[in-house]
Amino acid sequence: MEIFEKFTEVFGYAPNLISAAPGRVNLIGEHIDYNGGDVLPFAIAHSTYAAFGARNDSKIRIASSLFPGEVIQADTHILTPLYGQMWSRYILGVFWAVGSARLPHGFDIYIDSTVPIGAGLSSSASVEASVAIALNEFFQWNMSLPDLARIAQRAENDFVGMPCGIMDQAISLMAQEGQALLLDTRTLKSEQIPLDLTSKGLELLVIDTRVHHELVDGGYAERRDSCEKAAETLGVSTLREISVSEFESRKREFDTTTYLRAHHAVTEIARVSKAVTALREGNYEELGQLLNQSHESLRDEFTVSCPELNCAVEVANSRGALGSRMIGGGYGGSAIALIHQEDRASIESAVSDAFAKNEFISPRFFVALPSAGARIIQRG
Ligand code: GLA
Repeated sequence: MEIFEKFTEVFGYAPNLISAAPGRVNLIGEHIDYNGGDVLPFAIAHSTYAAFGARNDSKIRIASSLFPGEVIQADTHILTPLYGQMWSRYILGVFWAVGSARLPHGFDIYIDSTVPIGAGLSSSASVEASVAIALNEFFQWNMSLPDLARIAQRAENDFVGMPCGIMDQAISLMAQEGQALLLDTRTLKSEQIPLDLTSKGLELLVIDTRVHHELVDGGYAERRDSCEKAAETLGVSTLREISVSEFESRKREFDTTTYLRAHHAVTEIARVSKAVTALREGNYEELGQLLNQSHESLRDEFTVSCPELNCAVEVANSRGALGSRMIGGGYGGSAIALIHQEDRASIESAVSDAFAKNEFISPRFFVALPSAGARIIQRG
């Protein structure tokens, strides 16, 4: 295995443990996880791989194929938020969130990843999950997957400084092959929902616009604030607790921006439950419509889309997709299109042509298949 050799080359001895944790596609339920709603993500095959070697002191050394030549040095006892280079914070943050009292010693760590960075496919959560699952295994904590997800989220919120919800960490840890995860983001109770598009002649095409977002920027936090402010005005703890009709009846209590952002959230929460029904009934036309409505709402009300994402969605739909939408935090990253398998080549070439015509960077494509969650792949 390649990561085994890379670890050995950098640190001069063989690793004790190797873990893997996937990135994700969110089928529907965008910007809902910090509003207490249900989300419906699934894991993709692209994963982060992490190799660990136990040390006999409290030091941590981290190297990665993504940043060749750099070795980040830290110590489990003296970690403080924002320590280290940006890329290493997703790893150090998990150590920090676990707390030095629970860590008898440090590690040498090598990170490798096939999850495209900044593509809205949760590369950062996959790094956090690969570390969390490995520490849990190494020290035999027997923590539940939802508890590990909370630790990983705390690492990102408080160590990295990105006020994300729980969806990405939870799906990377809790995913099962062939299933989407219907996740209640308040309780982390979940249900696996079979997602077998292939046998229906369908597939989910991921269109990576290769426009990179920076979620630590203010746009995400601002939208989260608007939603929280709206919940406060309504006298509820999260927007999950308000129906679409009740929300609309109280429209006058909001300024336009807050209204539109919160309107996206309450309608998107309702769309997730409709999407689960559509999936259970095998009603893919309806699922496609819901994807389109989600995109329009993210574009026009939540305003987190961008010209490349809108172009990908419009072109895919004009070439026969049942529905399409941007996924993840937004401002770039990826879109998904629910398509008939036989349309894939023509949709890919039409999207590529449209991108070239608009002078956008050329997009990348892959078909997303619901894959397994975080796991230990080798013990030394
Ligand atoms: C990012 C965050 C998630 C979620 C999505 C939007 O991926 O990390 O918690 O809020 O954006 O749905």
